Amino acid sequence: MRRGCFISVEGIDGSGKSTHIKFIQQLLEASGKTVTVTREPGGTMLGEQIREILLTPRSESISANTELLLIFAARIEHVQKIISPSLAAGKWVLCERFTDASYAYQGGGRGLPLSDISILENWALGCFHPDLTLIFDLPASVGMKRALVRSQQLDRFEQESVDFVDRVRMAYLSLAKNNLKRYCLIDASLSLVEIQQAIQREITPFLEIHLHV
Ligand code: TMP
Repeated sequence: MRRGCFISVEGIDGSGKSTHIKFIQQLLEASGKTVTVTREPGGTMLGEQIREILLTPRSESISANTELLLIFAARIEHVQKIISPSLAAGKWVLCERFTDASYAYQGGGRGLPLSDISILENWALGCFHPDLTLIFDLPASVGMKRALVRSQQLDRFEQESVDFVDRVRMAYLSLAKNNLKRYCLIDASLSLVEIQQAIQREITPFLEIHLHV
């Protein structure tokens, strides 16, 4: 059995990831792939409980290091219980956010040293990373407005300042700039049709390369 491919989808809150994931899933399934769709933080029962802790607004602050460790605790469970077994069974995994989000939010947003995140990543996951990452890029103020319209109540991350979200965005852009091979940057301020065309332009050649996976 050949290993499946691992695709992650990233971007600031309000960049439309959940909508675009459904379209990517359709493209993959139309070409005969069996797809596991999952998300971070979350994906397992424990991971979803950790997500609840992380996203619920609270009066007591959480230190950035604690936040990072909670996210990686959820990630280890997710990789061991869901992602790796799916890939080993030949399924494709489509994940809303993965380790890049830790570089963007805890690194860019919270200001943790990227070298610390990298050490933790290596310890927790070795060199395990997505085969392809689509980053949906949007100005911070636009993403925040969209998140505000969508949410009944803003979560702990959505309540952050525009400066925080802008640092997250810049961290994503810098990741994309430094590894053109794995990352595809997609302008999320375009119309839905244009975004779907851009997704297709990225996914189609990737599917061709991995035709027999
Ligand atoms: P979302 O899944 O609705 O986008 O919310 C998840 C939130 O968790 C999002 O605001 C970003 C945050 N997050 C991090 O800060 N670091 C991470 O590594 C991950 C996966 C998510």
